[in-house]
Amino acid sequence: MSDMPVSNRVRKIVEENGEVRTIFLEYNVPGAIPGQFVMLWLPRVDEKPLALSYLNGEAAVTVQRKGKFSEEIFKLRKGDYIGVRGPYGNGFDVNACKKPCIIAGGMGMAPLAPLVEKLAKKKPVVIMGASGKERLIFRDRIGKICKVEYTTDDGSCGKKCFASDILAGVIEREKIDVVYGCGPEQMLKKVYEICKKNKVECQLSLERYMHCGFGVCGSCAIDGFRVCVDGPVFSSKQLSKMSEFGKFARLKYGKKVGLSEYYNWRE
Ligand SMILES: Cc1cc2nc3c(=O)[nH]c(=O)nc-3n(C[C@H](O)[C@H](O)[C@H](O)COP(=O)(O)OP(=O)(O)OC[C@H]3O[C@@H](n4cnc5c(N)ncnc54)[C@H](O)[C@@H]3O)c2cc1C
Ligand code: FES
Repeated sequence: MSDMPVSNRVRKIVEENGEVRTIFLEYNVPGAIPGQFVMLWLPRVDEKPLALSYLNGEAAVTVQRKGKFSEEIFKLRKGDYIGVRGPYGNGFDVNACKKPCIIAGGMGMAPLAPLVEKLAKKKPVVIMGASGKERLIFRDRIGKICKVEYTTDDGSCGKKCFASDILAGVIEREKIDVVYGCGPEQMLKKVYEICKKNKVECQLSLERYMHCGFGVCGSCAIDGFRVCVDGPVFSSKQLSKMSEFGKFARLKYGKKVGLSEYYNWRE
C-alpha cells in the first residue's frame, strides 16, 4: 500500500456508455479487495477517490462524467501517466454470507462488480437498477456469472420501479442472509430499512467528500465514523448508529447539507 501517488499508466479504455468509461491500469493495485478505493491523481488537475471496478488480476476504475475532474479523465488516452495511491478503506466482508444479494443503483455497480466475481460460487442474486437501460453498466460481465434482476425508472429494461422496490421479494424468495449494496444514499437508506424489517444483515458502501483518503483530515466524517478508514463499507449495526445516514453530507469545505444538495453540488 502506498500513501504517496505511485506512477501508473492507462493500459486500456473501455466506453461503458456515453457518460461512463473504464480506465484499466498498466500496473495492479497489490492487496486490494472488493469495495476498496484508490485516490487517483491527475497532475495539474486534482486527486479524487474512485472505487476499484476490476480486481481479477488487473485493476481498473470506472468513472462517470460529472465535473472538472471526470471531464479530464475522459481526455486520457492509452499510455498516459496518472498517479494512484491506495488501496484505501475496509472493503466488503465476503465471508459474512451464505446466500448473498448484491444491489446496485447506477454507478454503484462499480465497486460491486468485483464483489460479484469474488462471490460467484455462492450464487449471488444481483439487483441492478438505473434510470434507464443505457445507464446499466457491466450487464454482460455480471449476467455471465449469476442471476440478475433489472429495474429502471423508465421501464426500458426489467421492471419499471426502483431497485429497492423488489428487494424484500428477493430476500424472501431466495433466502438471502446478507445484502451488499452501493448506490445513491436515498436508495441505500431504503435497503437498510428493508433489511432491518426482514432481519437480514447488510453491508452498504457510502460516499462522503474526501481530501486525504486515509483518516487525517476529517472531511468524510459521518456521526463519528470516517468513511475513508472505517468504511466506505458499513454494517447494519454501524448504520443503525448514524443519524446523518440517508439525510446529510458535507460539502468540500465542511458545510452540512441535505443529500440532494450534496449530489447536485459541482466544484
Ligand atoms: C469511496 C468513493 C468511491 C467512489 N467511486 C467512484 C466511482 O467508482 N466512479 C465514479 O464515477 N465516482 C466515484 N466516486 C465519486 C467521485 O470521487 C466523484 O464522482 C468525482 O470526484 C467527481 O469529480 P468531478 O470534478 O468530475 O465532479 P465535481 O463537480 O467536483 O463533483 C461532482 C460530485 O462528485 C462528488 N465528489 C466530488 N469530489 C469528491 C471528492 N473529493 N470525494 C468524494 N466525492 C466527491 C460529489 O458528490 C459531487 O457532487 C467515489 C467517491 C467515493 C467517496
Ligand atoms: S478523507 Fe480525510 S479523513 Fe477521510
